Amino acid sequence: MRNNSMDMFDLAGKKALVTGGSVGIGKACATALAMAGADVAIADIDDRTGEKTAEGIRETGVDCVFIKCDVTSKDQVQAMVAKAVERFGRLDIGVNNAGIAILGGDEELDQSAWDKVIAINLTGAWLCCQAEAQQMIKQGQGGKIINTASMSARIANCNASYDASKAGVVHMTKTLAAEWGGFNINVNCFSPSYLLTPMHASTPLEARQCIRDLTPMGHMERPEDLYGTIIFLASEASNYVTGHDLLVDGGHTLNAWLAPLGRHIPPRVSPDQEVAQLKKDLDAMGVEYDENGINEDLHPEIADAFKGMLGLQ
Ligand SMILES: NC(=O)c1ccc[n+]([C@@H]2O[C@H](COP(=O)([O-])OP(=O)(O)OC[C@H]3O[C@@H](n4cnc5c(N)ncnc54)[C@H](O)[C@@H]3O)[C@@H](O)[C@H]2O)c1
Repeated sequence: MRNNSMDMFDLAGKKALVTGGSVGIGKACATALAMAGADVAIADIDDRTGEKTAEGIRETGVDCVFIKCDVTSKDQVQAMVAKAVERFGRLDIGVNNAGIAILGGDEELDQSAWDKVIAINLTGAWLCCQAEAQQMIKQGQGGKIINTASMSARIANCNASYDASKAGVVHMTKTLAAEWGGFNINVNCFSPSYLLTPMHASTPLEARQCIRDLTPMGHMERPEDLYGTIIFLASEASNYVTGHDLLVDGGHTLNAWLAPLGRHIPPRVSPDQEVAQLKKDLDAMGVEYDENGINEDLHPEIADAFKGMLGLQ
């Protein structure tokens, strides 16, 4: 019996694994799990940044290890779970977050771009779910699997490869939740909107303002805005929640017409606060940026797409 309602969010003693954890949303997931007391393994293809992130999380007092892994390789994914278990003795929480976007009009996009996005975002997530569930089933005490989807699963947003990959993640989550409920494994996903990570380091200022104007909560999403969601989905507070896609978008997908009418007081987060974590990530990656956290060369195709939409080209 719990004495305190906050105890149900306590992850002390839990062992977690986060893919794509070197920067951005994955790093936010690892940070949130560590804040709640879990030991965390961070897996990523970027080992230089990943090692730094793991070191930062260890300094908060929990154990944290970096594991190099390309989630498109079944062998590497299986080895990733084995290494996490070797370090921690078990696995209770798996967050499958590694993902990319390759923007470009579908009428001319090369098939290699489609294949790569599906391989990382959808097939990679499935390989991770499978390896984590195998371990959790072996342990016999259930577990929590959390996939990173996107609002792009619900609305036409980037292009077909990205949007379809994320719609696939949402439905894969539902099917796996139905399959693995009998092992007391919860499988859920969450869907951010435009979130200021290195993925959006090239998004122009004009686009950021446009996004704020079309978002009822009035600011762009930050990695920190996901902490509560991750702790909820990883903890016993969500024990009866499974197959769910938790939308965390500040209301962006509700109704673009209404959003500009409703702001009466300043948003909770200022433009400077929006980019604080992004700047830390870019520092860790050794990437330069201006005072707004913008580096136009990191994702020029994302910059071009927004400029095209806003008529800036
Ligand atoms: N930033 C957004 O606006 C946003 C919105 C909704 C959903 N998402 C999703 O969130 C997830 C994280 O996005 P982000 O914004 O933090 O991106 P990011 O580019 O800032 O970070 C992604 C991380 O994944 C790693 N990665 C890429 N390919 C990998 C692979 N094959 N194997 C292992 N690691 C790999 C990268 O090295 C990087 O550390 C992605 O699935 C993305 O689609 C992002």
